[in-house]
Amino acid sequence: MSTLDLRRDARRDALAPLDLGDVSAADLASARSNWRERMVSEHASARVFGELVGGMMRAGLPADETHRVAEMVRQELDHARLCAKVLVAIGVEPVAELPELAYVPSHEDATSPLEAVLRNVISIGCCSETVAVALVATERELAGPRSLRRVLDQILSDEIKHSRFGWRLVSRLAPSLSVGERASLDAYLVDAFAHQVRFHAPFLDMPCAGEAGLAVGAPHGRSNWLVFMATMEDIVIPGLERCGLSAREAWREVAGVDRAA
Ligand SMILES: [Fe+2]
Ligand SMILES: [Fe+2]
Repeated sequence: MSTLDLRRDARRDALAPLDLGDVSAADLASARSNWRERMVSEHASARVFGELVGGMMRAGLPADETHRVAEMVRQELDHARLCAKVLVAIGVEPVAELPELAYVPSHEDATSPLEAVLRNVISIGCCSETVAVALVATERELAGPRSLRRVLDQILSDEIKHSRFGWRLVSRLAPSLSVGERASLDAYLVDAFAHQVRFHAPFLDMPCAGEAGLAVGAPHGRSNWLVFMATMEDIVIPGLERCGLSAREAWREVAGVDRAA
């Protein structure tokens, strides 16, 4: 385990301290831990895009798309710095433990380098980043202080690019897959969706902040879960179906199992 220390980064163009007078102690604690966790997860997202670059090169994807993904590494690191500035503005040192980070899977069992990279593009761009767009957009609507809105505007505009990248690649490349590649990719969707459900399930145990807490980034766990489910069911699954993939069947398997559990 290593430490992520962004104190120096947070001092550059620092945000003015936020007025937290109306926020309850519980919601303030919740907002602080949410921004700290987000700082860590944004920073960790950078290595996901870094590892994606290699898979894209192996699959012979267009150089301009690979270049865009390299820029996404920097964008995620910038998001972590923005979170660090918010942490200072709400009275917290931007220092956190960085957990052990999983490698982006290389999918040795995939039928081709193209199928392998599409697995990761679907998981990262079409699923994780699309859900992130919906969650950050919701949070931005609720944000009170103007400086916080500006931070969320910046993060949101980049997450939209990351999500669009996923949809652009899958819609262009999925039609050219062979029958075997498509069948293998369809089978993978069950794992990809199960990962999404596992990753977002902690929302169900999170507290639900009041209005003043929501305005400074304390989460409302139940609404976040509903936003996640609506994004999967109304955007991700139909979008993948339009690309010729059997997403609905895979989602039924995952969501059905989850509800029975
Ligand atoms: Fe991000
Ligand atoms: Fe992102």
